[in-house]
Amino acid sequence: MTKYQVPKDFLWGSASAAYQIEGAHLEDGKGVSNWDEFVKIPGKTFEGSTGETAVDHYHRYKEDIKLMADMGLKTYRFSIAWTRIFPAGRGEVNEKGLEFYQNIIDECLKYNIEPMVTLYHWDIPQALVEEYGGWENPKVIDDYVDYSTFLFEQFKGKVKYWITMNEQNIFTSLGWLTAMHPPGKFDDQKTFYQVNHHAFLAHAKTVIAFKKIIPDGQIGASFAYSPSYALDCNPDNAMSKVDFDNLKNFWWMDVYAYGRYPKNAMTYLEKQGVAPSVTKEDESLFKKAASLIDFMGVNYYQTTVCEYNDLDGVTPYAKMNTTGVKGTNEQTGIPGVYKTANNPYLTTTDWDWTIDPEGLRYACKEITSRYNLPIVISENGLGAFDTLESDGSIHDLYRISFLEEHVKEVIKAIDEGCDVIAYCTWSFTDLLSWLNGYQKRYGFVYVDRDEKGGSLKRYKKDSYYWYEKVIETNGASL
Ligand code: BG6
Repeated sequence: MTKYQVPKDFLWGSASAAYQIEGAHLEDGKGVSNWDEFVKIPGKTFEGSTGETAVDHYHRYKEDIKLMADMGLKTYRFSIAWTRIFPAGRGEVNEKGLEFYQNIIDECLKYNIEPMVTLYHWDIPQALVEEYGGWENPKVIDDYVDYSTFLFEQFKGKVKYWITMNEQNIFTSLGWLTAMHPPGKFDDQKTFYQVNHHAFLAHAKTVIAFKKIIPDGQIGASFAYSPSYALDCNPDNAMSKVDFDNLKNFWWMDVYAYGRYPKNAMTYLEKQGVAPSVTKEDESLFKKAASLIDFMGVNYYQTTVCEYNDLDGVTPYAKMNTTGVKGTNEQTGIPGVYKTANNPYLTTTDWDWTIDPEGLRYACKEITSRYNLPIVISENGLGAFDTLESDGSIHDLYRISFLEEHVKEVIKAIDEGCDVIAYCTWSFTDLLSWLNGYQKRYGFVYVDRDEKGGSLKRYKKDSYYWYEKVIETNGASL
């Protein structure tokens, strides 16, 4: 039994994203997204898996939300597919798409589950990509703000918690540096930073608009935060850690929370000739939005160890383990700045992600001391192979142990003064892992499907009952 107290109104939650669960990719007037197109390119996803059917949440949302209610879930974080609302990115509203999310929200509210809406989880309308290059063009800012404000108007009074961007650092890095996400550009540093600048402006203008429409609501962005450790006390390695933080973490979190880019990182990028152009007006929008955000959203999976990297050292374009064959992840880094190293104190998952529960408390404490903001843990979970037994049970004890250790660290972080208001596991049901197919499972609920398909029947895993108990006792069962 944990000796620490969890606040009474703590939001025990779980999360998902539209493309990864909904399916029905062209149903009821939905437009085509960048991901609908990207998955068609041979070799981009594991065994060519797509979200065309996903786990069919579009047709089974009532069953899924009932499972959440039976578990006692307090909040459900899900994303809205822009293409269901505005199939062409702007202009005419698709009433059927709107109705779908109205139903999801009403279903949650019926069971006293607090809906937490992500406005953008990586699926931009393809029409905007074809018309003007999507995130590469500043025109996207107004389209994004119009889409978001439309949703605020629709759901004000029903949805209190909103997330503007899911992992802006990831979708832009994989989209414009490693070519693993749409639009599949490789090593385009200049565009990468400019795209991020547009996304920051879209975020900032949206936050400002939000406060006018839902003044008592709460809004923030969800950042994929990988806290870092220096390999050792060699000053070169310690410096690499600082540079890694500025370039890979604070570059995003400082804009959300302070409304400015970290100066050392900006100087470095200027020297490289890849810094974004920032106007005075941009700076004041950033500042205004930073003064208005209500929390820092954190998606936490793992920590990074930093070591100095020679000028002719490893590049960011390393091979990533997308198969679940342990030991196939390659070392990555920025020449002259940092490279990653293994952490001998930690174990790893089958996809080579380090398992570091304490790193989550470290993340919370860094955010608290640096930004002094409430924290929403918007994702945390274990991707693993699961086995469905013949009696319909799934004994995912490894997931229970992973989550239990992480939750304990969240509770300790609260005890040490961090204002953590929500903890969402990734994910509620099994779903499509963008690059890793259906075999990398994250859910409390097993979905019977593989890369080719399946019955889509739902089964409760052992972890489902474990989380039910955690919620029921508000953490005291741990
Ligand atoms: C986060 C994303 O990066 O991590 C999710 O927000 C994603 O959409 C999750 O599924 C786990 O990553 P992966 O690559 O294992 O699916």
